[in-house]
Formats: sequence, structure tokens, C-alpha cells
Amino acid sequence: MSEKFPNSLGGKYLKEVLFTELEVKKRLGEMVFEIARDCRGEEVVIVGILKGSFMFLSDLVKFLYIQDIHPYIDFMVLSSYASSTKSSGKVKLDRDITTPLGGKWVLLIDDILDTGRTLSFAKTYLYQSDPKEIKTCVFLDKPSRRIANIEADYHCFEIEDKFVVGYGLDWNNRFRNLPYVAVIDESKLPAE
Ligand code: XMP
Repeated sequence: MSEKFPNSLGGKYLKEVLFTELEVKKRLGEMVFEIARDCRGEEVVIVGILKGSFMFLSDLVKFLYIQDIHPYIDFMVLSSYASSTKSSGKVKLDRDITTPLGGKWVLLIDDILDTGRTLSFAKTYLYQSDPKEIKTCVFLDKPSRRIANIEADYHCFEIEDKFVVGYGLDWNNRFRNLPYVAVIDESKLPAE
């Protein structure tokens, strides 16, 4: 078993670790430093897009705590993805936030910026609540797949067009719990 796969998944469903747990934490610390510099003194609201952002957001707010930034935290549920590795193209709001955004500095968080449809929908939607400003923050950015006209204000890593799992990212709701990011071996996955 590869040193980078600390359990039985390596070689079975996963073919390559892109970012180890340590690499993720190191990069996250750097990125949060930039965020803290930009939002210090503001009333900050963090809005996570579920489900994919849960692990990234959880680590990010712990790093913000170290920077003495103590945000409101809320979540919205959007769906655009059926149970496959292909996006459907449509985004719909399944659960809204309940935190008022008027005049606040909002950090909108998602796991990955792929075609950009999800983040673009969420940003447009949240601007209807009159925040002072919305900044976007994604764990991974796949610029080669972009369709919507949007870039993230902050991202941890840019990646090529590979389907990845771990650190909140899933395949069929599995593998979200991995503390690292891995490329999935689609040839080994059970047929849907
Ligand atoms: P869009 O295309 O709207 O997509 O930017 C954002 C959502 O698509 C999912 N997505 C992935 N999920 N591995 C995943 O586990 C991937 O490589 C991947 N690419 C896109 C994800 O749910 C994200 O929120």
C-alpha cells in the first residue's frame, strides 16, 4: 500500500493522491491569512454550500479563530449534481440561509469551482439580501471547465480536469470523509 493511502481505498477506487492532509492544512493556513487581512473589522458571515463545503468550512473557521475573526456561520443547500460524475447544468435552491446579510461582509464557500454555475447562482441569489460585499472562496478550482463568468476571490488549489474526491468532495455521497484529495479511478467504480 502506498504511503500516501493510509487505508484500503488506495489502488481500489483511488488512483492518485493530489494533496495530502498536511499539504491541505498548510495551504489553508496561508489562504486564511489573506481572508483575515481583507475582512478584519467587518461583520463577517460565512455561507457554506452543502454538502461539499462542510469539511473545508470547518477547518477554515478554526483557522479564522486563530486570526481572531469570529463570523456568523450559515449554510445553503443547492443541487446541480445527480448521482454521477457529470453535472446536470441546472442549479436549484433546496435550503436557504436564515442569517440576515444586510450590510455584512459575506464569504461564500464551496468545495470546487467547476463550470461555475453553482457559485454564480449562489452569489447572484445572496446579493438580493443587500450584503455590503460577497467574496467567493473555493477549496479547488478547475478553470478549464468554466462555463459561467465567475472566478473565485480565494482558492486553495487549481487542478486539471480530473474527478476528485475527499475533503468533502464525493462520488455518490462516498469518500467525503477522506482528509486528503484523491483522483478517483472511474474504471473501478461500480456501474450506476
Ligand atoms: P459547478 O459546475 O456548478 O460545480 O461549478 C460545482 C459542483 O460540482 C461538483 N463537482 C465535483 N464533485 N469531484 C466532486 O466530488 C469533482 O471533481 C467535481 N467537480 C464538480 C461539486 O459538488 C461542486 O459543488
